[in-house]
Amino acid sequence: MVGVLDYDTEAGRYDATRGGEARALAAATALDALLPATGVIADIGGGTGIVSRHLATPTRTVIVADASTGMLTLAARRLPGRAVRADATRLPFADASLHAVTCIWLLHLLPPHLTDAVITEAARVLAPGGILAATIGKNNAHQGGDDTDAILHRVHQQGGAPHIPSDDPERLAQVTATRGLTPQATTTFTGHGQGRTPNNLAYDLADGRHLTWLPHLTQTDLDAALADLAALPGPDVPRTDPVYTLASWRR
Ligand SMILES: C[S@@+](CC[C@H](N)C(=O)[O-])C[C@H]1O[C@@H](n2cnc3c(N)ncnc32)[C@H](O)[C@@H]1O
Repeated sequence: MVGVLDYDTEAGRYDATRGGEARALAAATALDALLPATGVIADIGGGTGIVSRHLATPTRTVIVADASTGMLTLAARRLPGRAVRADATRLPFADASLHAVTCIWLLHLLPPHLTDAVITEAARVLAPGGILAATIGKNNAHQGGDDTDAILHRVHQQGGAPHIPSDDPERLAQVTATRGLTPQATTTFTGHGQGRTPNNLAYDLADGRHLTWLPHLTQTDLDAALADLAALPGPDVPRTDPVYTLASWRR
């Protein structure tokens, strides 16, 4: 079972449904500590620019590169003249031309060979000493131990094995090393307003979205998960906010 999110369609509701400014500011604050204070940064898969714009300073130029015109339309309002349509696996930047590349909530979306291609491209466009910073292990962010976590964990076990997520930290450690990138730091940020409710998790699962990493999930397993979610108390009460991990590497 494979679901692919259409970000052109999603653009209009993206910011409001991903924690809005609170999540964006938390992500940008954590990123800021990993990035050089000066130079040119490309935020790859930067989407609506809701995170990217917080990274821009008088000494730091931030370019949003994204494949979705719908998302970029919003990014262009936040960073005029600095939103470019680009495939993350074929970046429109010269070799060794950037001081940092960021990938927030991108690597987990792609199949492993494309994630690896993004890392290869990041290493190509970074100047020596430049920084790649990316969210990793996104599936592990919801670890509050709440009742929806237990059901999603079961679904991951049923549908994911033996699949290793593209942004698995150990996998990325190997991929980055083979591209000449050296680990620098890890940090975390809270996905404010991203706590799941039983109803919105059921919606996402039933819709087939976010299931690219669950290729073996059967309809029977999915139906059982949906029934268990429907039986939980507080169907519209958000559970624990997730905590996302950011890692950085130096070229
Ligand atoms: C989950 S959103 C994250 C957006 C932004 N980084 C944020 O944190 O708000 C993923 C973004 O990656 C973009 N994307 C997906 N595949 C891509 C690719 N191959 N090249 C460039 N952008 C891509 C999507 O269009 C979308 O805007």
